Amino acid sequence: MIKRQYRFITLPSTNTWASHLARTCSAHGTIIRAESQTAGRGRLGKVWLSPSEKGLYFSIIVRPRLTSEEYPKLSMTVGLAVAKAIEKTCDVDVFLKWPNDIYLNGKKCGGILCESGLSPGKNRFGIVGIGLNVLTAKSELPKDIRESATSIAMATGIRLDLESMFIAVVEAVLAEIHIHEDQGFSSILREWQHRDFLHGKRLNWLNNSGEIIEGISEGPDEHGRLMVRDLHNVLHEVISGDITLAKKK
Ligand code: BTN
Repeated sequence: MIKRQYRFITLPSTNTWASHLARTCSAHGTIIRAESQTAGRGRLGKVWLSPSEKGLYFSIIVRPRLTSEEYPKLSMTVGLAVAKAIEKTCDVDVFLKWPNDIYLNGKKCGGILCESGLSPGKNRFGIVGIGLNVLTAKSELPKDIRESATSIAMATGIRLDLESMFIAVVEAVLAEIHIHEDQGFSSILREWQHRDFLHGKRLNWLNNSGEIIEGISEGPDEHGRLMVRDLHNVLHEVISGDITLAKKK
């Protein structure tokens, strides 16, 4: 199923490389993978640590048969696919924190950075960047994220082979995108909701104006927006921003 793969010992960021490639040519399913990244990018300008031999860092160029309105939902489709690949390989329960963080035992083990080139014309594409902590040990995580991050090995005790896991994740992602194209988002949303880490939990949403809104998560809707009911009973339709669990009082 993998059309074409570009593999590097190291890159600043596979997403950056992929978006340059996608602007010229490259088929749906083209993969850019690096054994390590020196400037791995996370959502909202965060850094994604990408040490060699500890995890998977790759980007897939996708050209799905989806309308521009469907594109933003792709990141949830991909999150579900990664969760299913881990569940199948390790027989564990995987949770998804909106919009697409991968959670094991209440801690983050993977993240997805979706970017798109939606300019009018023929060359529409998405870049699906996936970072997964597979073999990282607790002592190898920076101190400031030791309580909030994990790896598959830390959470399950299973030391997966990076190559087999890479293939399992890629196949799951391309298959789930195919389902999205053919059947729409509703069955994907249902499966996503079964793994919803935030559902019913109290959280803080840092919106794009820098305001913090405290509320309870009512889960994502059919457009992929997170529904947050604030403490004054106002329902917010969240499309972006940072969501953190509220501290227990
Ligand atoms: C997040 O949770 O904030 C998203 C993390 C995404 C990291 C991956 S690693 C491969 C690809 N290249 C990048 O620079 N970022 C993504």
